[in-house]
Amino acid sequence: MKNIKDQPILKIKYKTILLRLDLNVPLENYKILDETRIHKIIDTIRFLLKSETRIIIISHVGRPNGKINEKLSLKPVAEKLEYILKTYPDSEFVYGPEQNLRLIKKNLNEINKENIFLSDFEKIVMLENIRFYKGEEENDDGFAKKLSSLGDIYVNDAFSCSHRSHASIDKITKYIPSFAGFQLIEEINALKKITSEIKKPITCIIGGSKISTKINLIKNLIPKLDNMIIVGGMANNILKYKGIPIGKSINEDNCEEIIDEIFSISEKHSCSIVYPEDVLVGKNLNDKSNIKALNKIDKDDLILDIGPNTSKKINKIIDESRTILWNGPAGYFENPYFASGSIEIANKIIEKHLANKIFSVVGGGDTVYFINTLDAKNNFNFVSTAGGAFLEYLEGKNLPGIKALN
Ligand code: 3PG
Repeated sequence: MKNIKDQPILKIKYKTILLRLDLNVPLENYKILDETRIHKIIDTIRFLLKSETRIIIISHVGRPNGKINEKLSLKPVAEKLEYILKTYPDSEFVYGPEQNLRLIKKNLNEINKENIFLSDFEKIVMLENIRFYKGEEENDDGFAKKLSSLGDIYVNDAFSCSHRSHASIDKITKYIPSFAGFQLIEEINALKKITSEIKKPITCIIGGSKISTKINLIKNLIPKLDNMIIVGGMANNILKYKGIPIGKSINEDNCEEIIDEIFSISEKHSCSIVYPEDVLVGKNLNDKSNIKALNKIDKDDLILDIGPNTSKKINKIIDESRTILWNGPAGYFENPYFASGSIEIANKIIEKHLANKIFSVVGGGDTVYFINTLDAKNNFNFVSTAGGAFLEYLEGKNLPGIKALN
């Protein structure tokens, strides 16, 4: 994999760089709830600016499914990035107060290499959410070619998206010289080290709400683990499979077969599957929490966190583990009434980390956001911005974005 940092300056100077980033930050009413993913890529952008290149940023936010959705505009992200660059200590030499970071809302078919920058003075533009275009998730050849035609060089600095076979991650590399960015290399090096030095017993905690994309991962990870703890939205599917009513809670249809496999593979590989024994419910996301045993869940209940008995059980497992991999919060922590499950998990890991008794890796946009609400990111061995990509890497998969760069 070629690192953009190692390229002779003359090879990149005055070139237009198509920079794929993962600026998929948690947003609420256009407000950025966690800026970690933005701060992480500042070094790459400043390196490119100092190398006298011009930058076209490509990113997505959320899952708009190929349709324009103003709620998922990158506008707040572009504004924040511009602010961070302008207020950097030496900004007058790199990206001064007179610069603007323009968000291009025009359809890609209406722009080309000659008219994308409005003047020689303009240094960075950002394309509107690339997932507004169907061609992105379809990894469409024509769309990738069009995208590539806007620049001279492509840089992937979005490790956390590299498990997606999407046009701006994968196909684009077919049409344009392609390189890895700093953040991508750093994440891979850290994960390589972790996987080669991993100590047993290994426990993986998987939560969050992206059920469809993670349920298959669980199956593949089990042979490498001693314990698989399933919490968050994902656990609702296990409860449903076990015949437990889950009320109005989020879940995914047609998962029975895969859950069957999860349990049989876990038996074969002596990996314990742990899922909630009790839960916290509410009638809506803004409600107060109510502790419920699994046989007491009402039709209009939403399961929004794990209960105290489950937390106790998880704490005991963490105590007995030497490696912890955690992706996805245990509950809807945005409402403090449903944050206790995630807080208990974090505190237990931190306690063991501070006693030097565990190696801990946490990953994923929401998990990092949660850890930042506790101001605890320095209390884990490694915090990855990647969620799905981090888990797929641990599975040993050749990620499409990395394969494409190679
Ligand atoms: C992430 O947050 O893990 C990446 O941005 C990828 O998002 P996705 O799961 O919607 O593809």
